[in-house]
Amino acid sequence: MAASEFLTTLKRTHTCGQLRAGDVGNDVVLMGWVDSRRDHGGRVFIDLRDRDGITQVVFGPDYDAAAHALAGELRGEFCIGVRGKVISRGTNINPKIPTGTIELEATSLEIFSRSETPPFQIEDGIDTAEAIRLKHRDLDLRRPELQKNFIVRSKIYQSVRNTLTEERFLELETPFMGKYTPGGARNFLVPSRLNPHHFYALAESPQLYKQLFMVAGMDRYFQIVRCFRDEDLRQDRQPEFTQIDLELSFVVEEDVQRVVEKLIVALWKDAIGADITAPFQRMTYDEAMSKYGVDKPDLRFDLPLGDITEAAGTSGFKVFDDAVAAGGIVKALRIPAPGGEKLSRKDLDGLTDFAKPYGVRGVAYVRVNEGGAWQGAPAKATSESARTAINTRLGAVAGDVILFVADKAKTANTTMGAIRLEMGRRLDLIQKDAWRFLWVTDFPLFERGDAGNWVASHHPFTSPKLEDLPHLESDPGRVRARAYDLVLNGNEIAGGSIRIHQAEVQARAFRALGLSDDEARAKFGFLLEAFKYGPPPHGGIAFGLDRLAMLLCGADSLRDVIAFPKTQKGTDLMTEAPVEIQQKQLDELHITIKK
Ligand code: AMO
Repeated sequence: MAASEFLTTLKRTHTCGQLRAGDVGNDVVLMGWVDSRRDHGGRVFIDLRDRDGITQVVFGPDYDAAAHALAGELRGEFCIGVRGKVISRGTNINPKIPTGTIELEATSLEIFSRSETPPFQIEDGIDTAEAIRLKHRDLDLRRPELQKNFIVRSKIYQSVRNTLTEERFLELETPFMGKYTPGGARNFLVPSRLNPHHFYALAESPQLYKQLFMVAGMDRYFQIVRCFRDEDLRQDRQPEFTQIDLELSFVVEEDVQRVVEKLIVALWKDAIGADITAPFQRMTYDEAMSKYGVDKPDLRFDLPLGDITEAAGTSGFKVFDDAVAAGGIVKALRIPAPGGEKLSRKDLDGLTDFAKPYGVRGVAYVRVNEGGAWQGAPAKATSESARTAINTRLGAVAGDVILFVADKAKTANTTMGAIRLEMGRRLDLIQKDAWRFLWVTDFPLFERGDAGNWVASHHPFTSPKLEDLPHLESDPGRVRARAYDLVLNGNEIAGGSIRIHQAEVQARAFRALGLSDDEARAKFGFLLEAFKYGPPPHGGIAFGLDRLAMLLCGADSLRDVIAFPKTQKGTDLMTEAPVEIQQKQLDELHITIKK
């Protein structure tokens, strides 16, 4: 086979998205894929596509007979090189593409490789089942909308590296294969051939190592790092995902937050050219839960929840009274006119089915009429004084709809939080192009585990707020953490904390978690050992890079910003991983499979 003239001597001069009117008259060489082909009055027109865009190329017997003859063989997705002269399209321009004022008069063509008919059209907005797209991910990734996502993703890495390097961070690596420690996310395990019956755990995050870097005097560390968690998957979760992981010495909360704000402002500018204003809004966890029912409120629309427990507890309406008597709360959501008027009886009755998965029995509602009178199930039984008090508390006026959920505090808040979001969507209240960043702070240090025991809400190295330290043993539930999450448009995009650096406080935190000294040593001995030798005060944070990319690209799913993602069941449809392993390999690993 002769050497390709196109690859050896001609060389590519431009990408398919580059040529403009100013290039008219130039001799150029393009390479890419045939996006489409049309034959017209003795000429062959093709759209040539690469990562950068599309250029129209025209073959005619008068431009070059051999190239024209060969162009007759071209089909979609053939990979080719073309040489030609840039000419103006005159009045016949295509305003839809940036190269639409010009075309290429082809003088030479080489077919690098031919393509079978692809299993789906390589174009944007196709409705091909995701399973088929994932099976042929290489072709799926050729589509311009996905290519754009990965161009943005690439800019994210560069921007983060620039900002953090400027801020004196060192980019350091940590092991993927580490020690298994129970608690936290479920780990993927890797058998050790050299150490029969022993397993590594794939790191769920570099948490312990980055703290060791601080003890080691690295001062400021960052890493763009893959993390592995064997979780049940959702639209915003993948079993392997990427974090931007940071840790800083000699800092308090505001220092970490300032660096993060700087990083975000630069990132939004670099990746999508958007201007973001810092500092970001702040809200405590308690306020977020009470006002929005979630710890990651979407502030692109208002619609706050109202707590009406006090007025509702003796209202006469049994559902409210019983819930309050049982120690619960009554949460309300006022949907002002005209939104309220848009909700039909069917919509409102349907909310009960919507809310049931959150563990409530129902969602009550009333329409508010002239003079503050109510219409709806709670109307009759509710005393006038309770109704007036509730209206006043919520600021309800004629034309509004009020929704109610009465239950245990957590259930009522979570349910109403979900209903609030759903109403925001249904009534089209969400400001789509807004970027609403929010720091959520003062999380509880501990929460109740499944067995009623205390578990760390974040991780066991998170520092308690100093003023809450006296309650660590006596009332762990009221101790707040020096933890902070960064929320964007209702998504948790980063989470971090100031860490404990005094051995004595760490020992007390472990004890509050029910860990004996021996157990703590068995799990985290290496960290405790390191902390004996002058650990600096330190803190950090980690971003979900995939979530950042998803939001920056306006994608609906993490799978649209991860090149080779896993399905909901954790499988890779292209390579078919995970697969069964042969007996010989299992024997080497000293593993027996239970059939
Ligand atoms: P955390 O567990 O909150 O913190 O994780 C940090 C961020 O990572 C993202 N994230 C995920 N993204 C995709 N798929 C997943 N399965 C997934 N799980 C988490 C989220 C989250 O905000 N070591 C601490 C950080 C610290 O304290 O410095 C940690 O890992 O966007």
